[in-house]
Amino acid sequence: MGSADATLRPGTTEVLIVDPEIPDPAAIARAAAIVRAGGLVAFPTETVYGLGANALDAAAVRRVFEAKGRPAEDPLIVHLAAAEGLDRVAGEVPGLARRLAEAFWPGPLTLVLPKRPAVPAEVTAGLPTVAVRVPAHPVALALIRAADVPVAAPSANRFGRASPTSAQHVLDDLEGRVDLVLDAGPTAVGVESTVLDLTRNPPTILRPGGVAREAIERVAGRVAVAELSLRDPAGAPSPGLLASHYAVTPELIVVECPTAVATASALARIAELARAERERGRRVGVILAEEDPVDLPPEVEARRIGSAEDLAAVARGLFAAMRELEALGVDVILARTFGAQGLGLAIRDRLRRAATRLLPG
Ligand code: TXA
Ligand code: MG
Repeated sequence: MGSADATLRPGTTEVLIVDPEIPDPAAIARAAAIVRAGGLVAFPTETVYGLGANALDAAAVRRVFEAKGRPAEDPLIVHLAAAEGLDRVAGEVPGLARRLAEAFWPGPLTLVLPKRPAVPAEVTAGLPTVAVRVPAHPVALALIRAADVPVAAPSANRFGRASPTSAQHVLDDLEGRVDLVLDAGPTAVGVESTVLDLTRNPPTILRPGGVAREAIERVAGRVAVAELSLRDPAGAPSPGLLASHYAVTPELIVVECPTAVATASALARIAELARAERERGRRVGVILAEEDPVDLPPEVEARRIGSAEDLAAVARGLFAAMRELEALGVDVILARTFGAQGLGLAIRDRLRRAATRLLPG
């Protein structure tokens, strides 16, 4: 377990199935021992599965980058078991950080704060700041507590791919590159945490995610949202926040829909694209809301992932639907966005970044 060359010995990933609410203490103890020994453990959070390592162990953190194929300039999120641990990693914790932690932790909000020297430069990609959150998942919390160290963890996918919302997704990407996977079933939120930079004025959402902007503003007052630059990686709001991310192998055509409930024109566009692609002999997958009235040609694989009235369900099912259609071998996936309110903003962000083509609805 936890050997230094974990990423160099393919085929050695162990999987332990654990109860998502009351994980077996022996499984947690084993996972914690691996983390403490400098190994890599993939574990469930409420958002997506994370690829965890001891955040205070630079060599272990380097192994995370190696396993993912992630560029070193893309910083990691440090996961804590409780807000009290903040002072261990953050150099300065303003009152607003404490209020946000009180309101949203455990939960899918990541705060960017000035870092303490104890956090290795590997974790933060050399930045003077550190991203921190307390995940709302009993397995994640038990692991961090048992390891008794902050756990640095990016999403447990190969770099640039859709984030994993199940243990199988983790294995599909990282089998043989991680020591252990704790399998507690599918994750509840399905998109990653909201990353909020508290070192900027006003506080700035670098990545929309599981906590809606509207909810943050009820605590923090007005916040800014960093604009996604789709063409210019140099314009990314934070290192690693590149466009062209969360991708799958098929082409992905995204139709922008200004509202959660689909507009007739967005659906007409999807139907038209599906017909045109079928006529070219291509295999087509479509991602839609349950109730979207679309007239699709035969032999199109439709994934209706939730109602437009229930964006939590849409977010939960999004990455899984992308990976499922990819596994079916479709040539092209058609999907629509769900406006920009609430979770709609995170859904749109992920679809925009994953898109090979972006069309107005
Ligand atoms: O829900 C999540 O956030 C999941 C689970 C596992 O916690 N984690 C996750 O990690 O999505 P990752 O590495 O895939 O994305 C972390 C994001 C990156 O976009 C990175 O640029 C940003 O957080 N980030 C990390 N540290 C930062 C820092 N010091 N300043 C600005 N952005 C930072
Ligand atoms: Mg990621």
